[in-house]
Amino acid sequence: MPARRCRNLSQLILYLLFIYKMIKINAGKPILAPMAGITGYPFRKIALKYGAGFCFTEMVSAIGFLHNDKASLELVEAGKDIEKTGIQLFGNSPGILAQAAEKAAGIGFKVVDINMGCPVKKVVKTGAGSAILKDTKEFSLIVKTVRRAIKDCIFTIKIRSGFDGSSINFMEIGKIAESFGVDAVFFHPRTKSLMFGGIADHSLTKKLKDAVAIPVYASGDIFTVDDAIRVKTLTGADGVMFARGAIGKPWIFTEYLDAGSPPAKKDLTDIRLKTGIIIELMEEMSLFYGEKRGHKLIRPHLYGFLRGFKGSKGKRSEVNNAQNGKELVNILKMVTDEVEFA
Ligand SMILES: Cc1cc2nc3c(=O)[nH]c(=O)nc-3n(C[C@H](O)[C@H](O)[C@H](O)COP(=O)(O)O)c2cc1C
Repeated sequence: MPARRCRNLSQLILYLLFIYKMIKINAGKPILAPMAGITGYPFRKIALKYGAGFCFTEMVSAIGFLHNDKASLELVEAGKDIEKTGIQLFGNSPGILAQAAEKAAGIGFKVVDINMGCPVKKVVKTGAGSAILKDTKEFSLIVKTVRRAIKDCIFTIKIRSGFDGSSINFMEIGKIAESFGVDAVFFHPRTKSLMFGGIADHSLTKKLKDAVAIPVYASGDIFTVDDAIRVKTLTGADGVMFARGAIGKPWIFTEYLDAGSPPAKKDLTDIRLKTGIIIELMEEMSLFYGEKRGHKLIRPHLYGFLRGFKGSKGKRSEVNNAQNGKELVNILKMVTDEVEFA
């Protein structure tokens, strides 16, 4: 929030305090958004290596994490990147969320985020994710209880604009969050009902940014560096999150950081360099998940990567039919050659 937007001196001081905390964890740089099935440890590692300032685990069940459920523990693995990784929890119980947040802080996470935007039926019907937006009393109880549990940890929420078109309440939610000491809001300006349809309305992000003193980060339809610059300029947001725009393109963070400056020595317009980064990601995934799972989980990244090239449609089925890592690497190399010689 630039000083001119602050309503008064106390708001400005509050904002400076909050933004100092966030800048200390590198959130001034582009952030990798939480994405289920995508932002496991290997991809986070690569995103951080190629320019992301901070990243999030995908949403993790608070109860599963508390019970040391194997799948949940795998999702929160962060190795030595733990200080640049926020854990995102989902759940419906203020007490369980608070206990899970406390546990996360105890093992070294510096940022705990609560998912309040997930539109998936399985989650919403339990009263978690975007369902929390429907009930401001329950929302207040959750933020109050979690805040009390993790006094020294950065506590953030990720929200949508509301549950549906008739209950758009992000302004109220943002103000309640601010009043209970939430440190920052990650905002995807679509309702739960829209899922991923329509367009993210970032005029709402600007409205939220102008109304609260806590930092606001923009998420939604940020597919390119130009999108990120446009959204940041339009909204005055404190930072941007790349989500789908980073799938298969983890160098997007470096491109964003380099925007406007002369091409760096290692120019990322070089297709071979990009292919090399995808192969590096594949290797990380095989190491972490084992070959078989790694090759399955790399697929969305390969589709994202291939989408950028003309004539790559047929390659998608080749990826699906590939039997092992060697065959996947060969497909990538073929694409690289075709692009280079085009
Ligand atoms: C495959 C996928 C999984 C996602 N999983 C999560 C999640 O676990 N937690 C969350 O808060 N948001 C999740 N999101 C939402 C993103 O973080 C982001 O807010 C949304 O995709 C809008 O950004 P984009 O339009 O730039 O992709 C997910 C999105 C996608 C595409």
